[in-house]
Amino acid sequence: MKVLVTGGAGYIGSHTTLSLLEDGHDVVVLDNLCNSNAESLRRVEELAGRTVEFRQIDLLDVVGLDAVLAEFRFDAVIHFAGLKAVGESVAKPLLYYQNNVVGTLNLLHGMERAGVRTIVFSSSATVYGASDQVPLNESAPLDASNPYGRTKEQIEDILSDLGAADPRWRIALLRYFNPAGAHASGRIGEDPQGMPNNLLPFVAQVAVGRRDKVTVFGADYPTPDGTGIRDYIHVMDLAAGHIAALGFLNSRCGVFRWNLGTGRGSSVMEVIAAFGEAAGHKVKHEFADRRPGDAAISYADPAAALADLGWSAHRTLAQMCEDHWRWQRKNPFGYSKAV
Ligand code: NAD
Ligand code: WQD
Repeated sequence: MKVLVTGGAGYIGSHTTLSLLEDGHDVVVLDNLCNSNAESLRRVEELAGRTVEFRQIDLLDVVGLDAVLAEFRFDAVIHFAGLKAVGESVAKPLLYYQNNVVGTLNLLHGMERAGVRTIVFSSSATVYGASDQVPLNESAPLDASNPYGRTKEQIEDILSDLGAADPRWRIALLRYFNPAGAHASGRIGEDPQGMPNNLLPFVAQVAVGRRDKVTVFGADYPTPDGTGIRDYIHVMDLAAGHIAALGFLNSRCGVFRWNLGTGRGSSVMEVIAAFGEAAGHKVKHEFADRRPGDAAISYADPAAALADLGWSAHRTLAQMCEDHWRWQRKNPFGYSKAV
């Protein structure tokens, strides 16, 4: 297939682009590089031994978007492009609604004009809000608790309405749990700009000496060790989930929702310990108050993805930490210092 990957220079997009190339698909990446570095794509090309067409275009640039959709005859779009920092979305809601919701509307209008009606969308477990009803399956009520999460919920609504209005559309809404890890080569990985928002990249930066210690948000949750539990999923398992979803849409029209998680939860302390094992030294931490808005426990019921797509996550927390560490050790300052 010929696939347009929006946000393909970013963390999950670059790993998925590599998997698509290895699976024999042709890929064009569209990204404005607002949270990424084109070096990721150079390395994807090197790993795959194949080229990736890259267009530095913003989803808010309708003319540029139309030009890319007219230049190639795409079979499908995988739509990763978006802003994803929860705290920033609370401070700058208009930026998030503009970039994520308007950007997606522009993309969908452009796809319709170009006659491309297959899309795999990066949604998030954040649409379930701070529900502690675990495991979460796809019919759990949606209740996003911040502007970032509400952009995901709104885009899910837009895509569901579109699929209902025009049965030619083929739409997959993939609700990722907590992506972690890196490609096993250590050549590509997560490269947060500024202070990491998520646990794994923060732990990795402490382990490599860029930061002093991890702050554990809350040790008084009703969990075995008192710290929050999440469903960490290896980014390469996530990449495989996108390819499985594309394959499914090949033979089916409609709107489909799948959780992409492992179905297993790990606590913050288990993650810190596993990362210490991978790095060969303990990762320093301190306890602090809970972070507002956090659920105690969140993990997926991934049964629907297994039943419909034949997909499940195989990699363990230990592998995620080993691969994340290999990337961080080889690229202590991410891509920027390498170019
Ligand atoms: P990322 O920031 O590494 O990648 C997103 C990419 O989109 C970046 O390369 C950025 O430059 C690009 N982008 C943003 N706005 C754009 C615009 N207007 N036009 C063109 N390009 C634009 O993030 P990621 O972790 O790879 O996440 C990918 C997708 O998955 C996002 O939609 C995110 O919301 C979603 N998601 C991420 C997580 C996570 O924890 N990483 C969890 C659930 C869902
Ligand atoms: C995981 C656990 C924290 C950092 C977020 C978004 C969600 C999705 C994934 C995009 C929690 C604890 C964290 C730290 C800590 N992203 N923690 N110290 O909150 O489950 O989900 O990322 O869609 O939308 O909300 O992930 O990695 O921030 O936190 O103790 O420095 O680690 O309290 O228990 P979260 P996270």
